[in-house]
Amino acid sequence: ISYNVYGVVFCCSICSDTKLKDPFSLAQKDLQNLYEDIKKQLLVSKAELKALCDYYFDGKGKAFRPMIVILMARACNVHSNKEGVLLPAQRSIAMISEMIHTASLVHDDVIDDSDTRRGKNTINQVWGERKAILAGDFILSAASMALARIGNTTVVSVLSQVIEDLVRGEFMQLGSKENENERFKHYLEKTFKKTASLIANSCKAVSILVNSDPEVHEIAYQYGRNVGIAFQLVDDILDFTSSAKRLGKPSAADLRLGLATGPVLFACQQFPELHAMIMRRFSSDGDVDRAWQYVLKSDGVEQTNYLAQHYCQEAIHQISRLRPSTERDALIQLTELVLRRDK
Ligand SMILES: *[C@@H]1O[C@H](CO)[C@@H](O)[C@H](O)[C@H]1NC(C)=O
Repeated sequence: ISYNVYGVVFCCSICSDTKLKDPFSLAQKDLQNLYEDIKKQLLVSKAELKALCDYYFDGKGKAFRPMIVILMARACNVHSNKEGVLLPAQRSIAMISEMIHTASLVHDDVIDDSDTRRGKNTINQVWGERKAILAGDFILSAASMALARIGNTTVVSVLSQVIEDLVRGEFMQLGSKENENERFKHYLEKTFKKTASLIANSCKAVSILVNSDPEVHEIAYQYGRNVGIAFQLVDDILDFTSSAKRLGKPSAADLRLGLATGPVLFACQQFPELHAMIMRRFSSDGDVDRAWQYVLKSDGVEQTNYLAQHYCQEAIHQISRLRPSTERDALIQLTELVLRRDK
């Protein structure tokens, strides 16, 4: 069979009569009990801390990162002639990636003073900021222990980079007053650090565990990096186009936080009036509403979407260098889901 992704036609060379399986159902078996296993890592006798740490592992997350990690692991395994077996350490990486992601959400909610996430009250809203910070730290410490248990120092160092990037990305987002030229570069770098680094380095880690070829590590990393950036670009679009109800948090949240994301930055090229608002981080009365109107009048959303497509194409280009497998093809298909998602 062949299938068409943004005008690029791919052929499934080994499985001419096999149906393309959707990424979620393909990874489902390996992801079973993932949240239960995570909760088992959060060993703590104090009931209140336990409740905080378990709060977001309620099975309502999309498990988007673990899914990519599992599919990448299996794709790399096939590529390395290890068909059919997912290494326990690779599944641990899937679990650890979700733990690091969740810890960062807990901390982000404190930094942004958010009161809702996924349609429920945030930890800081329910228990207060101080306990939320500690809960995030605790989840990170449990992730670090799980990582150490894998016993591979290369993998430890690859995933430690993620935590550094998360901190640096958050810092970049805090007080940026860069000029117009550097703004976009700064935005993409921040996007890599805050979102894509986790996916890129988790993908790299599972490849390291099965294959010693640096070229394979690079393929896994680049796939994750490109999909991760595309994912965040779409997230930034949804902040303008999706309803608050669907998102489970208020829309235009980024503008309210003073953040100029892709759609605004593109809109600014068309409507220079936005420049002053971006510089003062939409802090004057009516800025958020006015900026919102400009963005919807502009083709900022369309251009950001176009950029996301570009990153997805690059992700496909990278992953296509692996030997064909159902999982590899699911990773190709996943880029389409990233672009099409509406929440
Ligand atoms: C990590 O694991 C891979 C795959 O088993 C192995 O080739 C590599 O030597 C290990 N590295 C370390 C530092 O343990």
